Amino acid sequence: MTPGGPGSDAPGPAAQQPAGPLERRGADRSPGADLRSPGPPWAGRKVVLGVCAGIAAYKAVQVARDLTLLGAAVDVVLTESARKFVAPLSFEGVTGRGPLTDIFAAGGAALHISLARGADCVCIAPATADFIARAAAGRASDLLTTVLVATDAPVVIAPAMNDRMFAHPRTAANLALLEDGLGHHRVGPADGRLAAGEGSGPGRMAEPSDIVDAVGRAVGAGGPLSGARVLVTASGTREPVDAVRYLGNRSSGKMGYALARAAWLNGAEVTLVSGPSAVDPPCGVDLVGVETAWEMHEAVMDRVGTADVAIHAAAVADYRPRSPLPDKMKREAIGDETAIDLVANPDIAAESAGKMRAGSVAVGFALETDDLLARAERKLEAKGFDLIVANRAGEPGSGFEADTNRVTILARGEPPRELPVMAKFAVAWEILKVIEARLGRGGAG
Ligand code: C5P
Repeated sequence: MTPGGPGSDAPGPAAQQPAGPLERRGADRSPGADLRSPGPPWAGRKVVLGVCAGIAAYKAVQVARDLTLLGAAVDVVLTESARKFVAPLSFEGVTGRGPLTDIFAAGGAALHISLARGADCVCIAPATADFIARAAAGRASDLLTTVLVATDAPVVIAPAMNDRMFAHPRTAANLALLEDGLGHHRVGPADGRLAAGEGSGPGRMAEPSDIVDAVGRAVGAGGPLSGARVLVTASGTREPVDAVRYLGNRSSGKMGYALARAAWLNGAEVTLVSGPSAVDPPCGVDLVGVETAWEMHEAVMDRVGTADVAIHAAAVADYRPRSPLPDKMKREAIGDETAIDLVANPDIAAESAGKMRAGSVAVGFALETDDLLARAERKLEAKGFDLIVANRAGEPGSGFEADTNRVTILARGEPPRELPVMAKFAVAWEILKVIEARLGRGGAG
């Protein structure tokens, strides 16, 4: 008996596989290192990236690079003072397009209109206190503010400034006006170290990967899952044996986190109920951290009644030690052999299916070593899922810890949909298309 109830991730040699093209956070943890090839929702989009004069301007080069690698055409607009912080050539190097600053340059008069009209998204990163004040006042005093006044595209603002400037009531009021009054999307600021000598506090610009995702969500605003409540379980549970030991499994959480991220990018309000995981939480999702199957059970039962979609990607332990010891078991007291008495955990997915409202969609995962599709189909019925994602244990390029996965999607009343080995993010995107079709909100093309 293995205590880990298999979820989305299967064990196998796949742990050694290279990172997939769209998988976000793999072994190489530099931001954007795993953003390698074009894909939805960024591919083919035109993004105006406005860069203001803040220390964080150097991180905007990463934002420009990642958006470009994801297939967006990025026009960088630097404010006059931003050029003191970062060279235009850096942006040209990563976007292949010359940055703009001067509204009075040749063709400049029409420039703000063509940029503003052509954009699918205008993203300001970093947005300084001064820029935020000018934007809130509706000023059109340079190329960037003029573009902002002239555009109908969604706007993403990534504030970055000293913590006291961020806390200033005027800044707060200006930001509130941009967000609540004009519907601009704010990302960050984060809490953390500020410029040298400034200490730390809220004011640090959001990480480039989160800004890239905020742009992705903004261009997908009004998308098929817009406003839908999506509940995702992820990673494995840990069942205490004693004060320091637990029974666990090899689920990394990568598949569930990719699903949560893809759902958020598609416009959903996402809650991610996760066992311990080393994966960074995706931008925008409400993360509920749990450890044991019973904790996951409670977190899911509290929320599943209001969910439009529940995706059970977690590898929940099927059994737990009946009586975990309050202290550490001592080897000298145990001797050479011992046994742990196990008792069954609740089946979270099966129990929650009955609690979901009419028209909602329940999705399960099945990991099998043999008889994959027949067993997955039986689970589809037995646990009341609308669709189940089947993957084979031990297959190269899929399963536990891998950045890629190879799955077959089985939906009630539909022929199996077999997908090739793909990055887990790309697999997640495909699963969501099927979910959207079942919700009557989109198409599974
Ligand atoms: O372990 P099993 O193959 O039955 O898992 C199938 C599905 O049921 C998965 O979606 C998993 O997240 C879910 N499950 C659960 N609670 C359990 C065991 C499995 O929700 N105790």
